[in-house]
Amino acid sequence: MIFTVAIDGPAAAGKGTISRAVADRFGFAHLDTGLLYRAVGMLGGDPATAARNLTAEDLQRLDLRSLAAGAAASRVAVIPEVRAALFDFQRRFARREGGAVLDGRDIGTVICPDAEVKLYVTASAEVRARRRWLELGGEAAAQPFAEVLAEVEARDARDMGRADAPLKPAADAVQLDTSLMSIDEAVAAAFAHITAHL
Ligand code: C5P
Repeated sequence: MIFTVAIDGPAAAGKGTISRAVADRFGFAHLDTGLLYRAVGMLGGDPATAARNLTAEDLQRLDLRSLAAGAAASRVAVIPEVRAALFDFQRRFARREGGAVLDGRDIGTVICPDAEVKLYVTASAEVRARRRWLELGGEAAAQPFAEVLAEVEARDARDMGRADAPLKPAADAVQLDTSLMSIDEAVAAAFAHITAHL
C-alpha cells in the first residue's frame, strides 16, 4: 500500500507528537524532515554541499534538538540548492511501500502534492512559544520566555516569507489549530481524519 500523510505547520505546533502517534497507530514509517535541515545547518561549510553529502550517521551524531539547530535550519532552508538536494530522499520516503507520515513545512505543497492526507497543524505564536519554553525547563530554563517567543516569531517570518517552498497550507489541507486542544484531542482529530481516507 502506498499512502502518505503530510503534516505541515510552524515550529512547536504539535506536528512531531501527532506524526509519531500516527506512525505508531497505523504502522507507517515516520520522517521528521526538519532533522534534515537542522543537520545541514549544524554541519557548517557550504550548505548545498552539506545537503548533497548528508548521511544517516550525521543525523545520529549531531545535537539537532537545540534552539540553535532550529535557527540554523531555517537559515539554510531558504537556499533552493539545499531544498533540491533533499527532495529525492523525502519523495522516495513518502511513496515507500507500507505507508509513510512526513512532517515539515512543504510536504503537502512541494514534496508530496499527491499525499492521500494533508494536515496543517498550527497554534498561536504565544501558545507555541510557551510549549517550547516549558520543554526547555520553564522558569528553570536558561532562556526567558520573551526570548523564546521572539525566536518563534522570527522563525515563522523566515519560513513563511521565503521565496522557495514557503510555509503555507496546501489548498486541500485540513487545518488543525491546537491552541486550545490537548495533545490527546489533537491526536484523536488526526486519527479520525486518516481513518476516513484509508
Ligand atoms: O520542524 P523543525 O523545527 O525541526 O524545522 C527546522 C527548520 O527547518 C524550520 O524552521 C524550516 O526553516 C526548515 N524546514 C523546512 N522544510 C521542512 C522542514 C523544516 O524548510 N520540510
